Amino acid sequence: MVKVITYGTYDMLHYGHIRLLERAKALGDYLIVGVTADDYDKSRGKINVQQSLMERIEAVRATGLADEIIVEEYEGQKIDDIRRYDIDIFTVGTDWEGQFDYLNEYCRVIYLPRTEGVSSSEIRSEKKKLRLGIVGESPIIKKFVREHKFVNGLEISGIYTKSGVVKSEVPNELLKDSFESVLSISDAIYIISRPEFHFEQVKAALMLNKHVLCESPITISVSRSNELFGLAKERGLVLMDSLKTAFSTAFARLLLLVKAGKIGDVYSVDATCTSLRKTNEYSWDSICSWGPTALLPVFDILGTNYIDKTIYTHFDDAGNDLFTKIDFHYEHAVASIKVGSGVKSEGELVISGTKGYIYVPAPWWKTDYFEIRYENPAENKRYFYQLDGEGIRYEMVTFKNACRISNNAFNINEKVSEEFCRIIEDFYSGTYFRL
Ligand code: CTP
Repeated sequence: MVKVITYGTYDMLHYGHIRLLERAKALGDYLIVGVTADDYDKSRGKINVQQSLMERIEAVRATGLADEIIVEEYEGQKIDDIRRYDIDIFTVGTDWEGQFDYLNEYCRVIYLPRTEGVSSSEIRSEKKKLRLGIVGESPIIKKFVREHKFVNGLEISGIYTKSGVVKSEVPNELLKDSFESVLSISDAIYIISRPEFHFEQVKAALMLNKHVLCESPITISVSRSNELFGLAKERGLVLMDSLKTAFSTAFARLLLLVKAGKIGDVYSVDATCTSLRKTNEYSWDSICSWGPTALLPVFDILGTNYIDKTIYTHFDDAGNDLFTKIDFHYEHAVASIKVGSGVKSEGELVISGTKGYIYVPAPWWKTDYFEIRYENPAENKRYFYQLDGEGIRYEMVTFKNACRISNNAFNINEKVSEEFCRIIEDFYSGTYFRL
């Protein structure tokens, strides 16, 4: 019996896939199809896959061409599979020509001509594109323009910025001369202007029925944040916090492991985010630029119902908040964050529990690696998940998909978002001890 194996994502199964499977089947007597797992796809840069693993497996099964379906979960698995299933022929389309020649050592490798004119990527981008406008002065705008190229079904419609630096870094044809003109050519808007402008801009966008992705904090006042979320709900629009860390796979997995009790009951969360960036007229105060990021693990893990908090801060002579420490007291736990743009510290995250602790090395907010450490070091576990484009592309995919179905279930829930605003509001109203 001649055994054949082939692999693919098979997202939104199309004619090209079916023709490939038919020819693969015809090469032998028994066909095994490897369907890629979501995580594996993500780690090799395929972030736009629309269907879940189960849906894609079902679609392959429904063709009736596969005698057996397996899941491809890791790099190098093909060699394992070929040995385990005693494979005679490995085959894929000619888009992979030459890339699997190394498998000739284990079986025959055949590249089948790819069917012209159809691909999952094309099917995904044929859907009406989400036109995303951008407003603000942050250098992150340049990264958004770069990263959007990895997202199917989304285009940048225009940018309104007052910053000469941003203007020089983005394509000229995208620059518009007012916020209103960007709104008029967009379905959605990404707001990264200084936080004091967020409320007016988010409101203006929602009033014109545009979805909004807004850099955290969404506003610097709880009542205004509630008003905006209420407005978005009323109009069936998406209002989502933009905070890159929340979209890192490693950070999401870390939260799941904590919830699953891997370190026991959590008694302390300590997060530090500092940088010594030069400030200019468009820079954010350090509490706004770092506060939401540092607060994210605290609120995600311990919730937002703390009993008490104390804020300590240091301002320079020009009134810039160079360093802030906030201590939280919960019923059964404590937490602390340290943020600063004038004081440097180790940018790590430590979550302490009754069975062990999680350690995320600096810069933890770009999490791709963390460790669970126990009393007995032999039990320690290390986790690594690829983080491409600092998480921006994952954030864009999530936002685009949310807009498509007007869904408000995001990586940062509304309660957490509201609590970011409360902390910032308290800070600006002077509820702190000066250092
Ligand atoms: N394939 C093909 N002809 C096409 C598209 C895909 O023969 N027009 C083959 C690929 O060469 C591969 C298998 O089908 O052997 C699964 O491909 P997959 O990557 O899942 O499909 P694509 O349509 O290429 O997906 P994407 O656009 O996301 O890369």
